[in-house]
Amino acid sequence: MNILSAWRQNRAMDFELITVSSSDMTQAQASEVIALCSDVFRLDYAYYMNLCPDRVHVLGYADRRLMSHALWLSRRLRAGAGPWLNAAYVEGVATHPDYRARGYGSALMRHLQQEISRFDLGALSPATARVDWYERLGWVRWQGPLFILKDGEILATPDDAVMVYRTPQSGTVDVSTALAGEWRPFEPW
Ligand SMILES: CC(C)(COP(=O)(O)OP(=O)(O)OC[C@H]1O[C@@H](n2cnc3c(N)ncnc32)[C@H](O)[C@@H]1OP(=O)(O)O)[C@@H](O)C(=O)NCCC(=O)NCCS
Repeated sequence: MNILSAWRQNRAMDFELITVSSSDMTQAQASEVIALCSDVFRLDYAYYMNLCPDRVHVLGYADRRLMSHALWLSRRLRAGAGPWLNAAYVEGVATHPDYRARGYGSALMRHLQQEISRFDLGALSPATARVDWYERLGWVRWQGPLFILKDGEILATPDDAVMVYRTPQSGTVDVSTALAGEWRPFEPW
C-alpha cells in the first residue's frame, strides 16, 4: 500500500456513520444537521425538515463533529406505464465546506445506498456540477421526460433533472421512459 492509500484508509477509519430516523433523532443531532445544511445550501434547513416528517438521516462524524449528511424520504415514483415504485428519495447531500475531498461524502453515500436496498429504487435531483460525482457512485441519469402528478393533473417539469440508483429490488427500470412523481409542497424534484 502506498502512502496516499494508507492516508486515505486512515481517514476513512476515523469516519463514523450513523443512520437515524427523524423520530429517533436527538435534538442535538437535529441541530447539527440544520446548522450544516443551512450553511451548505444557504437557506433555513429547519423549514424543509419540518415539511418532511418521516425522514431517515445518515450522519457522518469525524472528531465528534458532523462532517457529512444525507437523508432519504419514501416517495412514490412511476416509470412509464409500470407500477408505482416505492423509492428512497435522497435529499440534503452535504459535506462541511472545510472538509471536502476527503472521501466523506462518497463513504456516506455508499452507506446510504446499502441502507436503501429494500426500496424499489433510489432517486435524487442532482446539482448540475455533481452529476459526474453521483455517476461514479453508481447513479444513472434519468433520460426520459419528468412529470409531477398533482390533484389528477400531470405537470411537465422539463427544467429538472433526476438520477436513479438501482437496488436489488429494481429489476429492469427503463430510464428512457417518462418518470412521474407525486407532488409535494416544495421543490418538485
Ligand atoms: C457534493 C459533496 C457532498 C461531496 O462531498 P465530499 O465529502 O467532498 O465528497 P468526496 O470527498 O467523497 O468526493 C469529492 C471529491 O474528492 C475526491 N476525493 C475523495 N476522497 C479523497 C481523498 N481522500 N483525497 C483527495 N480527494 C478525494 C473525490 O474523488 C471527488 O472528486 P470529484 O469532485 O472530482 O468527483 C460536497 O461537495 C458538497 O457538500 N457540495 C455542496 C452541496 C451539494 O452540491 N450537494 C449535492 C447536491 S445534489
